[in-house]
Amino acid sequence: MKVLSIESSCDETSASVVKIQDNVITVLSHITATSLDLHSKTGGIIPENAAREQVKYIMPVIIRALIESKNETIKTDDKENYTFAQKILKQEIDSIAVTYGPGLIGSLLVGVETAKTLSFTLNKPLIPVNHLLAHLFANFISQPNVTFPFIGLIVSGGHTDLLHFKSVSEYEWLGGTRDDAAGEALDKIGRLMNLSYPAGPEIEKRAKQEIQTKIAFKSPILNENTFDFSFSGLKAEVMRYVQNKNLSEDNKNEICFAVQKAVIDVLVKKTLAAAQQYNCPTILLGGGVSANQTLKENFKQEARSQKLEVKILSPEKVYCTDNAAMIGAYALLNTVEKPWKEVFANPNLHLQ
Ligand code: KG4
Ligand code: ZN
Repeated sequence: MKVLSIESSCDETSASVVKIQDNVITVLSHITATSLDLHSKTGGIIPENAAREQVKYIMPVIIRALIESKNETIKTDDKENYTFAQKILKQEIDSIAVTYGPGLIGSLLVGVETAKTLSFTLNKPLIPVNHLLAHLFANFISQPNVTFPFIGLIVSGGHTDLLHFKSVSEYEWLGGTRDDAAGEALDKIGRLMNLSYPAGPEIEKRAKQEIQTKIAFKSPILNENTFDFSFSGLKAEVMRYVQNKNLSEDNKNEICFAVQKAVIDVLVKKTLAAAQQYNCPTILLGGGVSANQTLKENFKQEARSQKLEVKILSPEKVYCTDNAAMIGAYALLNTVEKPWKEVFANPNLHLQ
């Protein structure tokens, strides 16, 4: 089975062609257009700006994904590209998968309405996909040996959630953030220090240069007996710390180290505790923050030091942040097709 998948829940516009054969999920093409430059200027995403960019990108990205899935190159003639892409979609694609939530309403509408139109005009079934679950299912791309049950930790710019997955379609929500998401806290803290947007990657880079700082921030609700998280207190603590200080580059590196440690410590502790409590031999990480190398290393170190027999997996870096390939992977493993008339963008889609 082969799907065309579309993701446009936040600032990225992404399309991919993904197939499953003998239980192996393979990405045949993956194209993402980003409007990050625009958002760097404003230090965050202005939803209307993001959606306007996505209207511009959506069809070129889809056309390119279809053509590159055949290992063909884009021609200079737009009409020729469009005709070829439509032929591929008509003849070779079984279904269209699309993110229907959660996310920014304008951004979601761009992807959902495009997918619905293609579904209607080319008579292809539609598979609506929850963006958050897809972040975890990015782990199944090219990794056929991922098994159930597992504990899933979604750590992105908008979400921090712990799930206990029993089968492809059966999960229990264990806890989530009470306020800011982990990535959101990193991005807001980055803004306090004038770091690039989004700040996660720069915080990771700076933290690597500083390991001997005396600065320590509290890991929020680290010792509370709950699978919930909270990161707004950390942001407030850093805000108080940097207030009225003229920070040198070394100071910034120290703060980045301490912030990253506070975030990682609580993510690792609660996720490993969930794996123990639910007797899960596997942990899957997903979402933009799971691209963080130190997070992945700390997970493995801590599991070793607690003598836990647990496998910790994370997606390939390109599939950690928002991408359409993960939407295709989820749709191929959990193929629930819907008529186009029943699919709607839902910005507030929940996990619970
Ligand atoms: O999953 P994602 O692309 O978008 C959402 O669905 O929210 O996640 C984006 C988030 C941003 O907050 C960004 O700062 C963070 O992921 N991020 C990282 C790293 N790369 C991206 N955080 C820490 N370390 C990284 N290497
Ligand atoms: Zn995401």
